[in-house]
Amino acid sequence: MTDNINGMKRTHYLDELRASDIGKTVVLMGWVLRRRDHGGVIFIDLKDIKGLTQVVFNPEHNSESHGKARQLRSEFVIAVKGIVRSRPDESQNSNLATGEIEVFVDELRILNRSKPLPFVIDEDDNIEVSENLRLKYRYLDLRRESMQKKLVMRSNVARSVREFLYENDFLEIETPFLTKSTPEGARDYLVPSRVTPGKFYALPQSPQLFKQLLMVSGYDRYFQIVKCFRDEDLRADRQPEFTQIDMELSFVEPDEIMEIMDKMMAKIFKETLDIELTLPLKRLPYDEAMEKYGLDAPDLRIPLELVDVSDIFAESGFKVFSSAVSKGGIVKALKLDGGSDKLSRKDIDDLTDFVKIYGAKGLAWIKINPDGWQSPIVKFFNDDEKERLQGRLRLNPGDIIFFGADTKRVVNEAIWRLRAHIGKKLGMLDDDAFSFVWITDFPLMEYNEDEKRFDCVHHPFTAPNDEDIPLLEDKDKLVYSKSYDLCLNGSEIGGGSIRIHSKELQNKIFKMLNIDEESAREKFGFLLDALEFGAPPHGGIAFGLDRLIMLLCGAESIRDVIAFPKTQKATCLLTDAPDKVGTKQLNELSIKLNVIE
Ligand code: AMO
Ligand code: AMP
Repeated sequence: MTDNINGMKRTHYLDELRASDIGKTVVLMGWVLRRRDHGGVIFIDLKDIKGLTQVVFNPEHNSESHGKARQLRSEFVIAVKGIVRSRPDESQNSNLATGEIEVFVDELRILNRSKPLPFVIDEDDNIEVSENLRLKYRYLDLRRESMQKKLVMRSNVARSVREFLYENDFLEIETPFLTKSTPEGARDYLVPSRVTPGKFYALPQSPQLFKQLLMVSGYDRYFQIVKCFRDEDLRADRQPEFTQIDMELSFVEPDEIMEIMDKMMAKIFKETLDIELTLPLKRLPYDEAMEKYGLDAPDLRIPLELVDVSDIFAESGFKVFSSAVSKGGIVKALKLDGGSDKLSRKDIDDLTDFVKIYGAKGLAWIKINPDGWQSPIVKFFNDDEKERLQGRLRLNPGDIIFFGADTKRVVNEAIWRLRAHIGKKLGMLDDDAFSFVWITDFPLMEYNEDEKRFDCVHHPFTAPNDEDIPLLEDKDKLVYSKSYDLCLNGSEIGGGSIRIHSKELQNKIFKMLNIDEESAREKFGFLLDALEFGAPPHGGIAFGLDRLIMLLCGAESIRDVIAFPKTQKATCLLTDAPDKVGTKQLNELSIKLNVIE
């Protein structure tokens, strides 16, 4: 049998009582984390979302409640009424907010019992629990202190964001989930329509089109903390449904958006981690990011930069380099100051195997020893090449250089991975540091070799730079856009752009993307129409809230910051979704299954 609250009223959360409360009669409620039986006296660590308080049952003080307390097991839910008293000196715990006191219990009510647990909830036991088990019993996993801390932080971040945006004249407006496909580049999740047989809604990949329409409607500044749905291959930082802090603003240029977002980040970091960010956050044009780091989301905590040395080796006797350049590829070097001693031959062989995973054919290297250069390749270099390399890389004894030679894509990918790998391996990055960088001025489009057409780097509503608009006609000219991504420690946490607000330009872009007029009308006709009714210049951005929280609390997996996440296979182990549906439901939806195994 269990008891009811029945008139009892909780007086304190379990992180609240202090020495100043000694002598007070209090009522506490929570879960039994630990029970210790000390020769008759029973100690319970009682916990709730806020903290932990020790409660004590003494058979001489109250034999009835002590007798009941002997039944208590992990995760029983109880209410106790008792008196706050000082802990004896030797059992005071300065690591615990309530460590000076304990509650001497007069009355115990067992509000609910718990079956033996599938895994230990007490994290002091340091027992590794398989993620599948945690996901199946997510409600127990979420009861663990480390998970509660993450979700509390998530709520605090959402509060800071809302406060900031309200203070800055943003309006919170909801947009539909049952809608048409939005072009963020992933596959859509579809919802069949019962009333219109054969037709489907698409769950939004983002509120992109609706937020633009809200600007046309004159709402000036919109935001929403909103679910987005994307059916894509999942990784450690991707979920099929995830949350965006989504915003759109009228009458702005990229600078103003980045400035406002800088302030929002500063408020989030101050209020959640008490860290003062130095503003403005660093900015780096896309081309420079690619040149120095080989990717558009570099981790700037690693103090290493790539250097293009293609020109030095264009005519080199070392054919691996010269032929890469003659075929239109590049040669890039990565220098580690004083790295020579830190990497053995075996390490270099391992690094060579590592870059091969990313398509590199090899990894050339030079160790700058005090008595000369040691390398399998310098015998092919002439003096001029050596001198120019020395000058460009400012080489010193003790340095080691690695080289990648191939197409631009392969070299950049292999060498940025190498940079990140070496940075970690040699302990060059401070795990507690936060390094932000805005990547700006992305190309508007990139050529898709496989499909033989242009693809948008951001999305098709992104505005080209004004001075580049005349170049749009010229297929060989690279056109840049008014776009920006915010990266934190090598992870893209947000991205956005100024949008096209003229129908003519929008149509021109669709044409370049091989979207003919008919399909443009079919997919985005409502947007094209809206652009003809006084659409203001506008732009926006969306942050991945889950990714941001991951970084703020140092979580390895996006699943750890989402209350009820999906597995890598997009399933929910708690509810068993997705699930089969009955014929009756399918018939109502006019759907006949043809499952191909
Ligand atoms: P984008 O597609 O870049 O832009 O998404 C914005 C941010 O959302 C996060 N994100 C994800 N997080 C978890 N799981 C996923 N599957 C996932 N996909 C994206 C990333 C990313 O930076 N409508 C535009 C924004 C705009 O132009 O205003 C958009 O959705 O952190
Ligand atoms: P090889 O001529 O194949 O014996 O290679 C000589 C050195 O160059 C070895 O250290 C290889 O790992 C390296 N190497 C080979 N191909 C490449 C490449 N495409 N980029 C960089 N280094 C390479």
